[in-house]
Amino acid sequence: MNSTTNVLCIGAGYVGGPTMAVIADRCPNVRVTVTDINAERIGAWNSDRLPIFEPGLDEVVRRARGRNLFFSTDVAGGIRAADIIFVSVNTPTKLFGQGAGRAADLQYWEKTARQILEESDHGKIVVEKSTLPVRTAEAMARILKSNSRGLRFQVLSNPEFLAEGSAVKDLEAPDRVLIGSEETEEGQRARRALVDIYARWVPEDRIIQSNIWSAELSKLTANAFLAQRISSINSISALCEKTEADVDEVARAVGTDSRIGPKFLKASVGFGGSCFKKDILNLVYIAESYGLSEVARYWEAVVRMNEWQESRFVHTMVASMFNTMAGKRIALFGFAFKANTGDTRESPALAVATDLLAERAHVVVTDPKALDNAREDLAGVDGNLVFERDPYAAAAGAHAVAVLTEWDIYRTLDYRRIFNSMIKPAFIFDGRNILDHQALHTIGFNVYSIGKMPLTTV
Ligand code: NAD
Ligand code: UGA
Repeated sequence: MNSTTNVLCIGAGYVGGPTMAVIADRCPNVRVTVTDINAERIGAWNSDRLPIFEPGLDEVVRRARGRNLFFSTDVAGGIRAADIIFVSVNTPTKLFGQGAGRAADLQYWEKTARQILEESDHGKIVVEKSTLPVRTAEAMARILKSNSRGLRFQVLSNPEFLAEGSAVKDLEAPDRVLIGSEETEEGQRARRALVDIYARWVPEDRIIQSNIWSAELSKLTANAFLAQRISSINSISALCEKTEADVDEVARAVGTDSRIGPKFLKASVGFGGSCFKKDILNLVYIAESYGLSEVARYWEAVVRMNEWQESRFVHTMVASMFNTMAGKRIALFGFAFKANTGDTRESPALAVATDLLAERAHVVVTDPKALDNAREDLAGVDGNLVFERDPYAAAAGAHAVAVLTEWDIYRTLDYRRIFNSMIKPAFIFDGRNILDHQALHTIGFNVYSIGKMPLTTV
């Protein structure tokens, strides 16, 4: 890679920001610019308060920003200067027209393709970083080829596998980097240019090269498989609650089989995050559009099981608290969709809070990083709702505490103090199975968890 390589990323979100920061950090001779139409977001990337929270990200950005990492709203100028353009715009579920509720909404994607074409005065490598339906690269290539100026573009698929909360770690030491290209000579040359960037810090045997359609489909498949494991163990959690089996013991016994493995077998109130649901529904839509309705139904069940798990959690709360929540103060410990992030997109906490408010409970939300997002998410929901930074204050005067995010701080709180401050009988619902249930029961709590028999006092 020569010293003049200019990399541009369009989309400065949860993927674009951290991914480019790590590339810039690891490749000082590559000039990386991250652009976005959202000026506020770019302003935050240029400030001391980054727009997203990720452990270790501040340090990486601090090392590279202003040296070879730049954040800018000048998308057009960025395109003109770039040799390689990563496109990392959002690809949410389409909410209108054909495929509404399932298909990917590709409007931001297509706008970007057209802008790249409009602003380019020389050919470029365009890298799909966003998660896209299989064969989207074909549409991108057709748009880019529709020029009469003789410009030649190569489209690569390089899906991102980072998980939020561990993004920097995942980017610095990925299990694999996947790069798909056309099997032509030009396609392979473009693929090589991208491999050369990653090879600066990723061992080459972890850089998987494939055809472009395989790369696109592998990303959707990886997310579907991960989510499927969670829905599988969550389905078993319901059976455990009926049979006195313990889901954590079952997961341990099953996961020690090296063919199965222990990861993604933690039963929970449900999976959240911006991608699992959207990507599976997209897979469902693609399968349907190829007439594969059995495939579609199979994957759809993963999402349905998750929705059932979320509503089952609230059902357990209502049933155990004497079938009425009206006027009861319920403290929700955690609103982020997982620990170590402020992201609340598709968080199970949103479903739980909404259902509890519909039951006319008084809901108090606490979270160490996600309170601003929680406020926005719940802005349109009617009901008695309070936000409280301090978990002790949230629990004071409450009838119940529900743990919805597996933040470490919730493991080590003084639960005797919390119990003493609550209305009796006091209930605790551990939606993440992170607390010491026996100890809580000894203190006096009625303890309900996922996939275990309740420990009750009344
Ligand atoms: P995001 O919403 O956080 O960021 C997308 C950004 O793109 C936004 O800031 C938006 O303003 C910007 N944008 C949209 N249209 C634009 C345009 N025409 N020009 C310039 N900027 C534009 O989304 P995200 O979470 O970073 O996800 C991006 C993609 O990566 C999605 O396809 C997602 O499925 C995929 N992905 C996300 C994760 C994750 O953990 N969030 C992980 C892997 C893959
Ligand atoms: C997920 C994938 O793990 C990433 O590889 C992928 O790149 C990303 O989606 C994406 O495409 O957006 P992310 O959603 O950030 O990453 O976080 P995960 O760690 O996968 O957790 C997702 C949800 O599942 C969280 O709500 C988490 O609490 C839940 N979960 C996870 C469980 O309930 N049980 C588990 O055993 C694991």
